Amino acid sequence: MRILGIETTCDETAAAVVGIGFDGRGEILSNEVLSQIAEHAAYGGVVPEIAARAHVEVIDRLIARALKKAGCTIKDIDGIAAAAGPGLIGGVLVGLTTAKAMALVTRKPLMAVNHLEAHALTARLTDGVGFPYLLLLASGGHTQLVAVRGVGDYVRIGTTIDDAIGEAFDKVAKLLGLPYPGGPHVEKEAAKGNPERFNLPRPMQGRAEPNFSLSGLKTAVRLEAERIAPLTQSDVADLCASFQAAVVDVVVDRTRVALRAFRDIAGHPTALVVAGGVSANQAVRSGLQRLAVETGLRMIAPPLHLCGDNGAMIAWAGLERLRLGLIDDISAPARARWPL
Ligand code: KG4
Ligand code: ZN
Repeated sequence: MRILGIETTCDETAAAVVGIGFDGRGEILSNEVLSQIAEHAAYGGVVPEIAARAHVEVIDRLIARALKKAGCTIKDIDGIAAAAGPGLIGGVLVGLTTAKAMALVTRKPLMAVNHLEAHALTARLTDGVGFPYLLLLASGGHTQLVAVRGVGDYVRIGTTIDDAIGEAFDKVAKLLGLPYPGGPHVEKEAAKGNPERFNLPRPMQGRAEPNFSLSGLKTAVRLEAERIAPLTQSDVADLCASFQAAVVDVVVDRTRVALRAFRDIAGHPTALVVAGGVSANQAVRSGLQRLAVETGLRMIAPPLHLCGDNGAMIAWAGLERLRLGLIDDISAPARARWPL
């Protein structure tokens, strides 16, 4: 079985072909990603109209390239999956409409995939993990702790009441004058800094409900930065290190609480899984790895090239759905909001 996956929900245009190998495990046959970072950098964030236009300009070429690199033509494909949301609606429409047109013309099944579900199932593509598992989904738009009980069977245990974790990284980067998107830059600066120089808050730490709140932490960074301005390079590094340390403490604490709640909802987890753009962060990974050891669980984080948005995760989610007969018809809507 081979599935074409298309991703256009934010600022990455992506297309991939994923199949099933002889061992029954997922196999990425091609995975093409074109980032629009350069187009949006001057604005300090993603501009929806620019994103939608940029997707239109490259999507056909990118799909052709993904098929070619996978060594196949559209005839060899068993189904076409596209992210149908949540995301910037103009961009979602580009990918979904392209997939619908291809499915109509070729009479192949269409899978309108939830982008968050695709992040959630990536660990099954890379590591073949079985259900149920606890997922921390941490990206630029979402922060969720989820009990993943099966394909399409998700119970949200916790979420953020304000900023997403990636968004907090991006906002801290912006206020410290670092480029967009800020997460990787904050991580790089943090590696050079002293995480103990600034005594930043750990919002929600110790609370019984496994929710997050990050806007207060971001404000605390801003107040410290204003207090010591003008900032030297080492001030920026120390602020980044202190911020990242606070985020990791909060992530580990909130995930520990979610693990307790998980047992009532889904029994014993097979693994602790982290996904989404922020899962590229080594400090976050190490913190969760420590928690996994402490709780006797396996920790699974996608390889770096599958942490951010990509087509392989959409193709894989489509493959999982097709195997269960979960196909969509041409009326499947593009959705700006679509909770798991
Ligand atoms: O999953 P993703 O590629 O797109 C969304 O669906 O949002 O996540 C992008 C987010 C951005 O906020 C970015 O700054 C953050 O993930 N990010 C990181 C790192 N790499 C990406 N945050 C912290 N450390 C990183 N190394
Ligand atoms: Zn994403």
